[in-house]
Amino acid sequence: MKLEQHLAGCDADLAKLILRIGESCKKIKNGFASRQSCSDTENIYGEKQMALDKWADETLIADLRASGLVKYLASEEQPEILEFDSKGSLGVTLDPLDGSSLIGVNLAVGTIVGIFRGNVLAPGNTMVGAMYVLYGPLTTLTYTVKKGVHEFVLGPEGDYVLQEENIRIPEGKIYAPGAARKDYLAFHRKWIEALESEGYKVRFSGSFVADVHQILHKGGVFTYPGYAGKEKGKLRILFEGNPMGFIVTQAGGATSTGTGEILAVKPDSLSQRIPIYIGGKKEIQLVEKYRKEASI
Ligand code: F6P
Repeated sequence: MKLEQHLAGCDADLAKLILRIGESCKKIKNGFASRQSCSDTENIYGEKQMALDKWADETLIADLRASGLVKYLASEEQPEILEFDSKGSLGVTLDPLDGSSLIGVNLAVGTIVGIFRGNVLAPGNTMVGAMYVLYGPLTTLTYTVKKGVHEFVLGPEGDYVLQEENIRIPEGKIYAPGAARKDYLAFHRKWIEALESEGYKVRFSGSFVADVHQILHKGGVFTYPGYAGKEKGKLRILFEGNPMGFIVTQAGGATSTGTGEILAVKPDSLSQRIPIYIGGKKEIQLVEKYRKEASI
């Protein structure tokens, strides 16, 4: 089944938006080969080339502006929320190319999107949908509009074809731990050691979208925690934590900051960072238990 058929029963604006972003992502995927040397340098013709992540950002912004579906757009690459003169009412958050430092070594990267009705500076649990496109050996598109989590693969004919419907996060024993071990906070260290003593194995590529994708399919937990000197961690709630957390939650998993759901936090700025735990309910409950015990 093709993506457009799968979306047929959904809210029309959401369906059109997901399809439109899917089209933009095909351009981005093709850009990896044709714009390989993009690095803010001049090409052999003396033309200025934009870094690939900035180019991906401009591609998505132009396409979403033209769609007439989006009112507010917040991009990780932009300092302010963009407001479009549009009849549409959707609010979109965009991480145009997450993990972009890995492009140079040909590892998987992705585009992450959160979808709201209206204002995007709102708790993640008010989202109406979320999606990501993963550019790996295959290009896959995963979406939810709160009716399950579904994954499509970009086929040779240029269509997104259903690969897996109603994905549920399984039990698994992998963990993807961001930050340096020497900087772990005490409760976090204790939790990591508990996972390790149960035989959990490390799987961390440095691409958040790829690492959470793996957890979604194989179970376990992703974390980029707060750590000594950076108690709020590295990743951003609006562009990373919320959309991927929303998808994993819709697939039966959970999120946490260590003290409560990521999706319940009202962001106060576009660039707000947050400690991130995303994965199976069991692992999330355990980290919250250790966090709670540590503050007693
Ligand atoms: O936010 C960008 C990002 O590349 C994420 O995709 C990834 O999880 C993280 O940073 C990796 O950070 P570090 O280089 O500290 O391991």
